[in-house]
Amino acid sequence: MAAEGDAGGRRAGEAPPDEAALVEAIAAGIAHEVRNPLNALQINLGILEQELSEIVADRRSHVFEVIAKIAGELRSLDNFVTEFLRFARPPRPRFERVAVRPLLEDLAAFIGPECARKGVSLSLASEGGPDEVVADPFQLKHAVLNLVLNGLQATPAGGAIVVATAGDARELVIEVRDTGEGMGQAVLWRVFDAFFTTREGGTGLGLPIARRIAEAHGGTVFLRSREGEGTVAALALPAGGGAA
Ligand SMILES: Nc1ncnc2c1ncn2[C@@H]1O[C@H](COP(=O)(O)OP(=O)(O)OP(=O)(O)O)[C@@H](O)[C@H]1O
Ligand SMILES: [Mg+2]
Repeated sequence: MAAEGDAGGRRAGEAPPDEAALVEAIAAGIAHEVRNPLNALQINLGILEQELSEIVADRRSHVFEVIAKIAGELRSLDNFVTEFLRFARPPRPRFERVAVRPLLEDLAAFIGPECARKGVSLSLASEGGPDEVVADPFQLKHAVLNLVLNGLQATPAGGAIVVATAGDARELVIEVRDTGEGMGQAVLWRVFDAFFTTREGGTGLGLPIARRIAEAHGGTVFLRSREGEGTVAALALPAGGGAA
């Protein structure tokens, strides 16, 4: 396998051009050969359910349970394919002036209810950094959302997540701090590897996608963590918009 011979040569995450081309080709194949039939399956399952409901009057019938199970599996497969394509073929950022605080308030309004359901508090803190950056607002929100979701998944009820902005006039740093389970060095070492996950049902693409987005903005994502003490995930990006 190519990856085994690579240990000494490159930094993690830096693919040589031929590997990048291969990932691109695989992504194109998955987009056509997997996503299209998957969508057809989902549509046809919907039709099947509709027609069955005209024949089988009892909605509690086992056949509807089976259909729901298939629909659930198709949804996870669809999510996986969507996330994989997002990772393998990230769209170029559409740069515009973005007000940082309202973007994070939007994000908090979106994810807040889920935090509340889990008994985890979510708050915003301003500790410096620019009020505005040149960035793609959707991608930036997506990247920070991935960090907040990780924090939420690692934090038990009674814990807290703080999304703090820091930095200076030229650089914005968004820190997502959680009081969750944290992670040891062995995990920390691998968190940016595509498909690395310790979570049941995790895809292992949340952090690689967040870092790709940050890099397309001329920035990066890094983590500090201690087992049992929580984690800080930081996304740093130049205020003026970076070169891809
Ligand atoms: N805040 C955190 N606290 C503890 N562990 C974390 C945290 N963030 C990331 N991790 C570890 O890093 C791993 C990789 O994270 P990543 O977001 O890339 O994938 P994931 O969350 O497992 O799956 P998904 O693709 O759904 O995001 C996680 O499985 C977890 O072990
Ligand atoms: Mg994640």
